[in-house]
Amino acid sequence: MNETIYRPGLEGIVAGETSISSIADGLRYRGYPIEQLAQYSSFEEVAYLVLHGELPTRSQLDHFRNQLRQAMELPEEIVATLRSIPPGVPMMDVMRTGASLLGHWDEQAQDISAEATLAKAVRLVARLPLVMCYRHRLREGQQVVPPRKDQSVAYNILWMLRGQEPQPDHVRALDVTLILYVEHEFNASTFTARVVASTLSDLHSAVTAAIGALKGPLHGGANERVLDYLLKLRSPEEAAQWVQQALDRKERIMGFGHRVYRTGDPRAAILAPYCEQLAAQTGNQSMEAVAARIEQEVRQQKNIPPNVDYPAGRLYYYLGLAVDLYTPLFVISRTVGWSAHVLEQQAANRLIRPRARYVGAEPRDYVPVQQRG
Ligand code: CMC
Repeated sequence: MNETIYRPGLEGIVAGETSISSIADGLRYRGYPIEQLAQYSSFEEVAYLVLHGELPTRSQLDHFRNQLRQAMELPEEIVATLRSIPPGVPMMDVMRTGASLLGHWDEQAQDISAEATLAKAVRLVARLPLVMCYRHRLREGQQVVPPRKDQSVAYNILWMLRGQEPQPDHVRALDVTLILYVEHEFNASTFTARVVASTLSDLHSAVTAAIGALKGPLHGGANERVLDYLLKLRSPEEAAQWVQQALDRKERIMGFGHRVYRTGDPRAAILAPYCEQLAAQTGNQSMEAVAARIEQEVRQQKNIPPNVDYPAGRLYYYLGLAVDLYTPLFVISRTVGWSAHVLEQQAANRLIRPRARYVGAEPRDYVPVQQRG
């Protein structure tokens, strides 16, 4: 093998081409800055944009919303399986199983044409919220709450979890997090999905694998881990001390740092004011004060800014959501990005199969077991 470029973690390596999002000039989906999308758009509109490449016209958006709403249902067998999964199984594992199970009841599961993949993507985005919300209600010993087919994905997530009409500002805050989680170039889970797609496997397989990658605390799992420390730190002073000790122990502070944003994650800046407002409204100012102090200390001591998971974790907490639903919410949104990447990969496919630099034993000959010491 010719000696080619090798960088641990593929840092800085261009591993493919994409027209879905870019990070060179702020984060943009299909050319549109996420700041504008977060301010003016909705999760559904952004999902259409990312999947189709262009913003929808009014009638295209209505049609897309309709497709999502029609697909918001689960086969009885899947509900029964959600009921039978042992208590205590992590919700991300349930999501991974859910994505795979949904394939068993999808008539187009094996069809990898672009048309079928797009249709399956819409069904996954419509149904994964039901997997999460139904499982949550069932494990709490409550009846499932079916979705309202005249409402958005964000509305329905809160509705199905709580069984109560959600406040519009809560729906909007959740919607903005979903917009910001939709897509992010060649992150670990998206790359996973593309590797699976490159073997000419199907969308449900790619999404199931991607969920496994997203679960890890260095990726999507970080939005839950943020609460591990925010829930135990009672004051800004205690928080400052904790940061110092954690950094002295060379620990990673979840929700901080990013491989591709060394000076700041633009998504974190967009979510910060939503956190402040929701914290004030829900009586969580003390957690916000602790969070602000942690941010200040980490910046001062390591010059590392927060990433999207830092405010997203807090925001979900202020919405009263169970902590192990945070990464599943990321799954629901990122299914859009994964699906767009699967479509893009399939449209100009080349099997993704890199090489490794061998650093193992020198060539040697087999020794029969009787002759081994
Ligand atoms: N806490 C403390 N130190 C950190 C952190 C952190 N969160 N992140 C990076 N560093 C330090 C790291 O120890 C290294 O220090 P030194 O040069 O003294 O050894 C320096 O910053 C450079 O870090 P790196 O290892 O080159 O960074 P990376 O590109 O490999 O890692 C990361 C990126 C996201 C894995 C890392 O920042 C991290 O572990 N963050 C915490 C987990 C997290 O919040 N993940 C969510 C990522 S964003 C959204 C998503 O994908 O979900």
